[in-house]
Amino acid sequence: MVSRRDFGLGVALAALLLAGGCEKDDPNEIKVGAYLSLSGADSTFGTDTREGIELAVEETNAAGGVKGKRIRVIYEDDKSTTHEAVQKVRQLVDRNKVVALLGEVASSRSLAGGLIANTSKVPMITPSSTAVSVTKNRHWVFRSCFTDDQQGAVGARFILEHLGRRRVGVFFAAQDPYSSGLARAFRAELKRLGGEIVVDKGYQKGETNFRTYLAELKAANPEVLFVPNYYNEMVLIARQAREVGIPGAMFVGGDGWDSSNLVEGAGAELEGAHFTNHYAPDVPWENSKKFVTAFAARYKHEPTSLTAQGYDAAKLLFDAIERAPETTPAAIRDAIAATKDFKGATGTMTMDDQHNANKPIVVVRIQDKKFVYATQILAE
Ligand code: PHE
Repeated sequence: MVSRRDFGLGVALAALLLAGGCEKDDPNEIKVGAYLSLSGADSTFGTDTREGIELAVEETNAAGGVKGKRIRVIYEDDKSTTHEAVQKVRQLVDRNKVVALLGEVASSRSLAGGLIANTSKVPMITPSSTAVSVTKNRHWVFRSCFTDDQQGAVGARFILEHLGRRRVGVFFAAQDPYSSGLARAFRAELKRLGGEIVVDKGYQKGETNFRTYLAELKAANPEVLFVPNYYNEMVLIARQAREVGIPGAMFVGGDGWDSSNLVEGAGAELEGAHFTNHYAPDVPWENSKKFVTAFAARYKHEPTSLTAQGYDAAKLLFDAIERAPETTPAAIRDAIAATKDFKGATGTMTMDDQHNANKPIVVVRIQDKKFVYATQILAE
């Protein structure tokens, strides 16, 4: 007779085998992997993106799937760390044998995960990573968004031409590839167009007390402060800026500000601030409106830019799989590279030869603790 204890062990062993790679392939299913920051410091990046991917999967499967098969997305949480991003991509490729990957949001983690995707020859689309280096010389890595070279240039033009200001201070996260790369692109364009950088400071990622920096920034008497960082740090900076008397409207940021946590944490402190982004809930684009309506019906709250981008990256991938002559990573890669005029919620996308999608850049204003569409600027 099998003892209770042995039976328990047997069940545990079977569960382990199932989870451990002996998973049977379902011939009616196409497996895609998604690695995201579902917990940790940047968790809203991951959870917002997942909602967008889920909506895309539901719509696609409800309409008959891709090549007559169901799409299944396997989600992995990298806990907002580059180390886990690497592990999770390895796992999705080696164990789950996914045919393509979606992820990440933060450029630092797309760089890390993308290296594994590239050497494993599995195509990856990042919905939101904008650092130029993410797709550079990586045959298998794509993005369905603009780059920081474009975003930084548009930020500079917005300050000079729309706000009519030219004395600018820059404050950025020194070791972060996103923040430092965006700051670099911004400075170059601002100077080229006749603006002046009156103060320029890098802080260390993870710092929480910015008061000394803020006092120095203020002392240089800039008209605008360009702060290309992520929402979690921006909440602290905005609150401490108010203490030293820097008004919210002086701040201009980049897409990393996009999180409902920003306005929940420092909406009042950032009243009148602007940031460049991929989308705004009230952007006057036909496809965005359709997406917002579909999303609101399903989730009962407003989508963020990240949600719209997750939705677009997933839909673009499914469209490529449909067009690919076979469901192999190599055929899917080529189909992604050939994407032309794909109509997404965040604009119409054509993959250029650098694996980037060129789209208009939206400028968002923070007004009454809400993100409001201000204008759109086409990157040159
Ligand atoms: N562009 C940011 C990066 O590359 C990520 C991001 C995109 C964050 C959009 C918020 C909104 O790191």
